[in-house]
Amino acid sequence: MKTFYITTAIDYVNGSPHLGHAYEKVLTDVIARFRRMMGDEVYFLTGTDEHGQKIQQSARARGVEPQAFVDQIAPEFQQLCARLGISNDDFIRTTEPRHQRVVSQLLQQLFDKGEIYRAEYQGYYSTRQEQFLQEKDRNEDGTWPEIFGEVTQITESNYFFKLGAYQQWLIDHIKSHPDFIFPRYRAKQVLEFLSEPLNDLCISRPKDRLAWGIPLPFDPDFVTYVWFDALTNYYSAVADKPGLWPASFHVIGKDILVPPHAVYWPIMLQACGLAAPQSILAHGWWSINGAKMSKSTGNFVDPIEFVDQFGVDALRYFLIREMSVGQDSDFSMEQFLVRYNSELANNLGNLVNRTLNMTNRFADASIPSPGELGEAEKSLQQAWSQTREEVLPLFEKFQFNMGLEKALQFVTATNAYIEQRAPWKLGKSEAPADQALLRTSLATMAEALRLGATLLQAVTPGSVDKIRGVLGYTATADWPSELNWDYRLSGNPVAKECILFPRPEKKP
Ligand code: MSP
Repeated sequence: MKTFYITTAIDYVNGSPHLGHAYEKVLTDVIARFRRMMGDEVYFLTGTDEHGQKIQQSARARGVEPQAFVDQIAPEFQQLCARLGISNDDFIRTTEPRHQRVVSQLLQQLFDKGEIYRAEYQGYYSTRQEQFLQEKDRNEDGTWPEIFGEVTQITESNYFFKLGAYQQWLIDHIKSHPDFIFPRYRAKQVLEFLSEPLNDLCISRPKDRLAWGIPLPFDPDFVTYVWFDALTNYYSAVADKPGLWPASFHVIGKDILVPPHAVYWPIMLQACGLAAPQSILAHGWWSINGAKMSKSTGNFVDPIEFVDQFGVDALRYFLIREMSVGQDSDFSMEQFLVRYNSELANNLGNLVNRTLNMTNRFADASIPSPGELGEAEKSLQQAWSQTREEVLPLFEKFQFNMGLEKALQFVTATNAYIEQRAPWKLGKSEAPADQALLRTSLATMAEALRLGATLLQAVTPGSVDKIRGVLGYTATADWPSELNWDYRLSGNPVAKECILFPRPEKKP
């Protein structure tokens, strides 16, 4: 079985991490955890993109050397991973020697094969985007769109990679590999881009204009241009680990699908004699309160502050529940609080509280064995079979938002079951039939809670561990069999109480 090798984009370290960075890591983590739970061997890579003009400029603005600057910011991204409970196996920084070595090797190999050549280049250059622009990039009135920042005309000698030579190969590859790009409709966008002749890719910058990069091994007066350096991280991190390449999934935002990941990267690999990644998953973008996130206008969510305030699982749950993978979504405190209160605190949290509370009151804090099952139990069990059958395929297809919705519907059904059985009434009766039904209902609610929680494991792993802990349960490593309804908790001691999702202290 091939290792499921999954990566995120590597983040620029010219500023602190934001919600978009957090989302991508959480989404990738949920996929990685789910694949591990399904029995795959998983290798999960994330990291930071530390070279280039923007970083050189940000360092200069702070009056420090670029290396000192990136050494200050990169740990913030590593801490973000830790705070978000990201289960990455490795974290690569493009300033590490292990990365630079592989970039140099690949460049030399392509140069030796004649895939890289030197030529004069004249064009309009955007410093902000670190790219030469084309006439078609202009606004209708001839000006340059704001995203390019200051645009200047420059001529310089540079090195080029023969991208154009691989255009037909890439078109064929995309057409014959329908799973190469997810969601599938985005493949159209790539093919559209490929319907125009591909220009060769400028892969260098003269050192006197950009010093902060990896030197070209065949001409030390130049450094590599951002994409050749950055994309190679996916391979450099595992080049010495047999069995990992090609990557199973590159998870990235929609802005860097075309051309970098869907065009440059597969062609670079093909030219080097390496296999293309199996799949590229392009997710949508978050806006905040309906507008683009921006630190300067204050329309910004600091993921770490958010976790400090609401807990990591509340953020993970919201990000995954709210966004349909591939589509854009909006983040607002109102919407967050609606989901937090109605789905986490009042639904799941309430089920935990009731289960503990009643098991303490009526069964000496020990989960009873069930007696004969009545209609209510059978129908809840039926609801569970259906939930399990529906949720797994949704998770397989990255439709986590819908899978979570169904998992939470099962939690709602369990709360409704409790209302129907009303153990607090049964507890007042001494009739043996009522006592038997009381035991069955306590056993059933604990079992349903265990099962519902199991479905949430990839998304809210910490809370699921807590729930198991208060039910006196340690899960096996066989996740699919954890989904079997078998009353395995009978006789377990339960905790007195557990507040999983406390009421927010203040409304921010
Ligand atoms: N360094 C490049 C990627 C190189 S990958 C070989 C880069 N860095 S980035 O920091 O600008 O973005 C990192 C990731 O965060 C990208 O996948 C990007 O799409 C994602 N996001 C940035 N802002 C985002 C939102 N507002 N919403 C969701 N994801 C967003 O690009």
